[in-house]
Amino acid sequence: MTIYKTKDYEDMSKKAATIIFAQIITKPNCVLGLATGSSPIGTYQHLIDWYQKGDLDFSHVTSINLDEYKGLGAANEQSYRYFMDTHLFNHVNIDKTRTFVPNGLEPDADKACHEYNQIIAREGRIDLQLLGLGHNGHIGFNEPDTFFEKETHCVDLTESTIEANKRFFASEEEVPKQAYTMGIKTIMQARKIVVIVSGADKADILHKVLYGPITSTVPASVLQLHNDVIIVADEAALSKCDL
Ligand code: F6R
Repeated sequence: MTIYKTKDYEDMSKKAATIIFAQIITKPNCVLGLATGSSPIGTYQHLIDWYQKGDLDFSHVTSINLDEYKGLGAANEQSYRYFMDTHLFNHVNIDKTRTFVPNGLEPDADKACHEYNQIIAREGRIDLQLLGLGHNGHIGFNEPDTFFEKETHCVDLTESTIEANKRFFASEEEVPKQAYTMGIKTIMQARKIVVIVSGADKADILHKVLYGPITSTVPASVLQLHNDVIIVADEAALSKCDL
């Protein structure tokens, strides 16, 4: 595991974007595993800037997102598909038909998850998986006590995740209570994993992820077992780690 300590969010975003830049340059038809949330917004902005300067070409890139709220579709501003369109896809030359997000509008969870697993299997191994880190150690929406062996599945979101995500909704009641998420097994099959973490509020959990026992109560701790993980975290997030 490699840990890059950055000054702040902006510095973290630039470093993470540079790693993705290198991935696309070295393998133009790569498969990127992408995340939503506050953490990657700055990273995506750098990728957009470099695309607009003519330095980056997304035309052969495939993307597979981690997760989507059950019940929300592309037209809903809180959906992860909408997030990806507005924060990245609409601003670069990626082929939208090659951008995949679980189908939140499919009410049959088994069907939605099975279809997503088929897409992942068809597109091949993810070359680079970008992850944010939840306050309870979740990655994707793999909440504490998820089995590490899972592929895409439907989850009940925990209170802490609903609480953390309510800032994006008009009220807590509007936050969906379930989501479809790529499982830990699939995440761990990615060739390279880049985790971006910013802010003092993530310091405790990041310390547990990096130095605590590998346990399903801290899902991201499983990353200790992966042979190519890069943590890009700012000073505040790493403030509990002796680096
Ligand atoms: C988002 C996702 C989540 C977030 C995590 C951190 O697609 O899968 O695991 O990465 O909740 O969210 P932020 O970045 O908003 O702190």
